[in-house]
Amino acid sequence: MWTLIICLALLPVLTTSLDNGVMRVPPMGWLAWERFRCETDCVRNPHTCISERLFMEMADRLVKDGWSHAGYKYVNIDDCWTEKKRNATTGRLVPDLKRFPNGIKPLADYIHSLGLKLGIYADLGNFTCGGYPGTTLDQIQLDAQTFAEWGVDMVKLDGCYSTPEERAIGYPKMSKALNKTGRVIAYSCSWPAYDGGLPPKVNYTLLGEICNLWRNYGDIQDSWDSVLNIVNWWGKYQDILIPAAGPGHWNDPDMLIVGDFSLSEGESRAQLAMWAILAAPLFMSNDLRRIGRTARALLQHPGPININQDPLGIQGRLFFSTASLDVWKRQLKGGRYAIAVLNKGTGGTPKKVELSLSSLNITTAQFYVITDVYEDKPLGLYKPNASFHFSVNPSDVLLLLVEPLSCKCKCKFVLKETCNVMEIRYGNALLEDVA
Ligand SMILES: *[C@@H]1O[C@H](CO)[C@@H](O)[C@H](O)[C@H]1NC(C)=O
Ligand SMILES: *[C@@H]1O[C@H](CO)[C@@H](O)[C@H](O)[C@H]1NC(C)=O
Ligand SMILES: *[C@@H]1O[C@H](CO)[C@@H](O)[C@H](O)[C@H]1NC(C)=O
Ligand SMILES: *[C@@H]1O[C@H](CO)[C@@H](O)[C@H](O)[C@H]1NC(C)=O
Ligand SMILES: *[C@@H]1O[C@H](CO)[C@@H](O)[C@H](O)[C@H]1NC(C)=O
Ligand SMILES: *[C@@H]1O[C@H](CO)[C@@H](O)[C@H](O)[C@H]1NC(C)=O
Repeated sequence: MWTLIICLALLPVLTTSLDNGVMRVPPMGWLAWERFRCETDCVRNPHTCISERLFMEMADRLVKDGWSHAGYKYVNIDDCWTEKKRNATTGRLVPDLKRFPNGIKPLADYIHSLGLKLGIYADLGNFTCGGYPGTTLDQIQLDAQTFAEWGVDMVKLDGCYSTPEERAIGYPKMSKALNKTGRVIAYSCSWPAYDGGLPPKVNYTLLGEICNLWRNYGDIQDSWDSVLNIVNWWGKYQDILIPAAGPGHWNDPDMLIVGDFSLSEGESRAQLAMWAILAAPLFMSNDLRRIGRTARALLQHPGPININQDPLGIQGRLFFSTASLDVWKRQLKGGRYAIAVLNKGTGGTPKKVELSLSSLNITTAQFYVITDVYEDKPLGLYKPNASFHFSVNPSDVLLLLVEPLSCKCKCKFVLKETCNVMEIRYGNALLEDVA
C-alpha cells in the first residue's frame, strides 16, 4: 500500500528536467528588485541604490543574522547594474563604473567567501526593462561566457523589448550557452510571463528541459491584493502548473514581500505558507538591515521552510474553496501532508472551520498527528474520519502539518482493538484523544 502511494506521488515529477544538477529543492535567497527597484542615485541614496555596497551588506546580514543558516543562500542582483552602453571594443556588458567600481568578479568572490551564491540579471531583447543594454540573440554566448568568468551562480533572463519569435529562440539558446561555459549556473526564465503563462503559447515541458525556474505571471507588488491575485491565478490554472514543477524545475510566483511595508502579520504568515505549499522559490526582497524582529522570526521559521523544501518537490493543490476560504494541500515525503487554510475574506470575524482528514482524501494511516506549524504545537491525534474545528482570522492562514503516526514504535496500545486511546505521547507532547 505504501509503495503504491509513493509511486503515484512521484508521477508528476517524472518529466525530463534541465540536467545541471542544481535546485533539486526550491532555491532560497534574496533578490533586489521588489524592494530596491532601479534606484541609481548613490549620492542622494547611498544605502538603497543598486550598488556593490547594497549586495555586500545584504550578504553580510544573510550570514550574521541567521538567514544563511535557515537556508537563504542566493544574493541576486536584478536590473540596473550596468553602464548604459556595452564596452565598444569587447562588446561585453560593463558593470556601472561608479556603483560597482570593483566589477562583479570581486563581488562574487566576496559572496562566495561567505558561503553564499551570486545571481545576476540580463534581458533577452534590445534593452532591459529599466532601459539598460539587453542581450540580443547574437550576444547570448558572450554574456553567458562573461557571467561564467565572473563566477556568477545564477542568471535571471528577463524578456522586455523582445518578440515572441526572439524568445522562442533566445531562451533555449541561453540555456545551451550557460551549459557550454562549463560552469554550473542556475537559470531563471521570465519567458512564460511574457507569453501569458498558459498553453498553447507556453510549453511547460520545454521550460522544464531548459530552465531551473520560471516566472509564470506578473510582478509582485507590495500589497496583499497582489499576493492574493497571484494565489488565485495559481489556483485557477493549477492543473497546468502542478505537472510542470518538480526537482530542478520550478514555477516561480515571484518574491516574498514579508518584512516590507504593506503586509500585516497574518498576511505575512499567509504569503509564506502559500509559497511553501506551492513549492515556490523563496527569494525575499526586503531590507535585511532594517527588518523587524517578527518578520525575521517568521521568515526563518523552520516549519514553512521544511514544507517548502520537501524533497519530493510536488507542488500543492487548491483542494476546495468556499466563498472566501481556500483549502490547499501539499503532499510531502513519508506519507505527510501540509494543509493551508487561507481566509481571503474581509468580514471582521474569524471564520469557523470544520474539517476531517478524509474530506481531504487523507485516509491511509490509522491515526495522524496534526501540528499547527507556526505555533509549533501538536493539535492532537486524529483518525481520518474525525472532525477537527478551528478558526482562521481574516487575511490570515492556518498552516497544518499532517503526519501519520507510526504505531510500530510510538504507541503500541493504539493497535489494541478498542482504539479508544486516552493519551498518547508524541515527542514530548501529550496528545488528547480526539478520535
Ligand atoms: C551540461 O549538460 C549536460 C547534458 O545535459 C550535463 O550532463 C552537464 O552536467 C551540463 N553541464 C553544466 C555545466 O551545466
Ligand atoms: C573595454 O574593454 C577594453 C579591453 O578589455 C578595456 O581596456 C577597457 O577599459 C574597457 N572599457 C570599459 C569602459 O570598461
Ligand atoms: C530591436 O532593435 C532592432 C534594431 O533597431 C529593431 O529592428 C527591432 O524592432 C527591435 N525589437 C524590439 C522588440 O523592440
Ligand atoms: C513542447 O516541448 C516538448 C519538449 O521540447 C516537445 O516535445 C513538444 O512537442 C512541445 N509541445 C508543443 C505543443 O509544441
Ligand atoms: C479524492 O479521492 C477520490 C478517490 O481516490 C478521487 O476520486 C477524488 O478525485 C479525490 N479528490 C480530489 C479533489 O483529489
Ligand atoms: C469513515 O471512513 C471510512 C473509510 O475509511 C468510510 O468508508 C466511512 O464512510 C467514514 N465514515 C464517516 C462517518 O465519514
